[in-house]
Parts: sequence; structure tokens; C-alpha cells
Amino acid sequence: MAYKVMGITAGRKNSNSEILLKEALTVCEEKGADVTMINLRDFHLMDCTGCTACTKAMSQGKHIGCVLDDKDDKKKIMDVMLNQDAVIFSVPTYDLMPASVYLTFAHRSLSYETSFLETIGTIEHKDRVAGLISVGGSTRAWQSMALEGLQATMFTTDMKVVDMMLATRVPAPAQCLLDDKLMARARTLGEHIMEAVATPAEERHWLGEEDMGWCPNCHSNALVLGEMQWDGLHYPIECQVCGAGGTLEKTEDGKWKFVIQKDGLLKDRTTVAGRAKHLEEIAHTQGGFFSDPEKIKLVQERKAAYAQKAFKGID
Ligand SMILES: Cc1cc2nc3c(=O)[nH]c(=O)nc-3n(C[C@H](O)[C@H](O)[C@H](O)COP(=O)(O)O)c2cc1C
Repeated sequence: MAYKVMGITAGRKNSNSEILLKEALTVCEEKGADVTMINLRDFHLMDCTGCTACTKAMSQGKHIGCVLDDKDDKKKIMDVMLNQDAVIFSVPTYDLMPASVYLTFAHRSLSYETSFLETIGTIEHKDRVAGLISVGGSTRAWQSMALEGLQATMFTTDMKVVDMMLATRVPAPAQCLLDDKLMARARTLGEHIMEAVATPAEERHWLGEEDMGWCPNCHSNALVLGEMQWDGLHYPIECQVCGAGGTLEKTEDGKWKFVIQKDGLLKDRTTVAGRAKHLEEIAHTQGGFFSDPEKIKLVQERKAAYAQKAFKGID
């Protein structure tokens, strides 16, 4: 049976993000994939309300979905997306990050959190592959959180990122068509997606530029100074995306390198096992609150003053 590959974009109609995505998807189609493509701007998508009804139910072993399931198109898209072998996301960069149309869509995936649903036996594990394209008017300097922002939305639905590309300096509509290198890179991304889906899941690996980014684990280009974590774990330097921990070392040729320490992948967010550590954190932090009537009472008492306090708003 043909591999199923889906393209999801959030750019302007027939402009850079859509065109680069179509270039990559065309390669997939040529290699025999069954291709689907959507632009999120054609759908009605509501913001996550933050009610956490989905995760509260999951923590009690139940799957109730999202309270907005009947109100917009998220479920309709997810029913198709989760059935794919691979998904390519192509999103414009707004204010250094992925455009909010995409983020609205992505933040509604909490009710689909695969590691939760697999744990309670609602769904079977499915290995999926992803390719990421971030498209901006500027160089990396003004797209500093674009790919990393997209990467951060991949964990919830178990998307293994095998390649990603930053499309730089294409501010005008469809300007990417003047950049042959960029168009060729999009085709290569399509090839990588097809190579990855044809590889057994446990052997799938990074197919993008070997030296891309700081992090040798997820290839993000974003590191932060580590701070003490909830369980006392402390890494000097952390990858902002996957959570790998380690330190910076200078190589013989004078370049800085992020070296992941021995236990540095304990909380690797790109793996189900690493994300399970976060479930422990939630159980510890939130559980410690919800199971303590004294704390709940204290918050209720203190909250009353804030409910009564109001400032001038806007009509
Ligand atoms: C609100 C807004 C914010 C933007 N912010 C950035 C930015 O921070 N960095 C950047 O490189 N480009 C930025 N851009 C430019 C777009 O990323 C660029 O025009 C891109 O080609 C849009 O993709 P599209 O043609 O697929 O719609 C911004 C555009 C808009 C409308």
C-alpha cells in the first residue's frame, strides 16, 4: 500500500510556504505516496480554552476528547493527520516564531497526547515521520525561534522530525520561486521524508544537514542556561527544544560545541520515555496541589479578593 504523506501549511495562498510544501510533496507523489495537503487558513480553528478537561479525564484513565470537538475543524483534520505515515509542516515566521494560525492548531493537540492515550490503552502506538519548513523574510537572525517553535509542537503527536529547513529572505509573495537552491532543498526534504517512511521505525534517523543547529540530539539551534528542575536535576546547559543536558566545550579548531552529558537525555522530550518523566512532574506538582484540601482552601480564600478587584477595561 502507498505511504500516506500529508502537507499542512499556514501561509498565504499560493505563496512561499505553500509553494515550498508543494515542491516537497510533489517528490513524495512521484515516489508513489498518497498525498493530502491542506492550508489551515481554510479551516475554522478555535483556541485551546485551557480547561484541561482532556488531561484530567486521561489521568483518570478516560478519553473524552476536547470540549471544542463539535465546534470547529480540529478533529476533522486530526482524524486524517493521525492516519498518515508522514506529515510535512510549512509555516511562515511571524515575530521570530511560527505564525499563530499554526500555533492555534497545534496547541489544540493536548487532547491527542499520544503518550497519555497509549498509557490508558485508548490508542495503539503509531510511528510517524515529520519534515519542517519555516519561511521568513529575513535570515536566521529574525527567525530565531521559528523551526524550534515548530519542533516543540511535534512531541504531542509522536512526530519524529527527520529533516527541517529554514527558508530565508523570501518576504514577498511567492518570492521563493526566484531561489533555485531553496526550491531544490524543498525537493530534498521530500526525498528524505520518503526515505524515512520506507525505513523501519527503530532505524529512522536524522536526514537533514549533519551539522545543523547546536543540539546533536534534535538539531535545534537554541540552548539555554540550565536551572534546577523539580526533582533536583541540574544541567549546566540545556537544549531548549528536546531538553538534552550537557555543557559547552571548545573543539581543537576553536569552535564551541554542545556536548550532551552521560545522563543528559533522561528527559529527552522527543521520546515517549522522556515525556513520561514530565508526566511524573505533573503528577508530583499538580497532584500535590489537587490532593491537598488545605492548599485548595487557601487558594479559594485568597482568590476572592482578586475576583472582586476590577480595573477599567475596553468596551
Ligand atoms: C505579522 C508578520 C510578522 C512577520 N515577522 C517576521 C519575522 O519575525 N521574521 C521573518 O523573517 N519574517 C517575518 N515576516 C515575513 C513573512 O514570514 C514572509 O513574508 C513569508 O514569506 C510569509 O510566508 P508566506 O508567503 O507563505 O505567507 C512577517 C510577516 C508578517 C505578516
